[in-house]
Amino acid sequence: MARIRTTVDGLVYEDDVEPRMLLVQYLRERLGKTGTVIGCDTSNCGACTVHLDGLSVKSCSVLAVQANGSEVLTIEGLERDGQLHPMQQAFHDNHALQCGYCTPGMIMQSIDLLGENPDPSEQEIREGIEGNLCRCTGYQNIVRAVQDAASKMKPGSAPAAESGAKQTVAGGGA
Ligand code: FES
Ligand code: FES
Repeated sequence: MARIRTTVDGLVYEDDVEPRMLLVQYLRERLGKTGTVIGCDTSNCGACTVHLDGLSVKSCSVLAVQANGSEVLTIEGLERDGQLHPMQQAFHDNHALQCGYCTPGMIMQSIDLLGENPDPSEQEIREGIEGNLCRCTGYQNIVRAVQDAASKMKPGSAPAAESGAKQTVAGGGA
């Protein structure tokens, strides 16, 4: 077992984990963060996307021990004081989901995309989310949602912070 200390959605967790445990397993099975989902488990679909130290990663391709000392942000950490993150709101407003299974990962990836390119073209959006698969929507409304969010998240406006105030939690449970 390996001891890890990780900040997840603004809370600090300390846990003993098996070295082979995946980050997505740690988030779901230890911390109960089931908003991050598993689609393929082979790093193809992007459903499990979270932010690790501010950059999007597929959490089925990262070991929990690799997140030691890092900050993780999941879909569950985006809302602030009852307000959806602008990207969440844009997905809602533009009907950018059907079954919703890809949505957590799609939103996390789209936020990362705008962090790198605040004003992407349609083509740049499509390329930016190409690692995230959606089998329902045909992507059109997802692209519209990202364009909508981009217009509301221009630099200078204040998107939700990567993480909130820290509070230590000893052990995630399970
Ligand atoms: S579950 Fe991680 S990429 Fe599909
Ligand atoms: S909304 Fe169903 S997979 Fe994207």
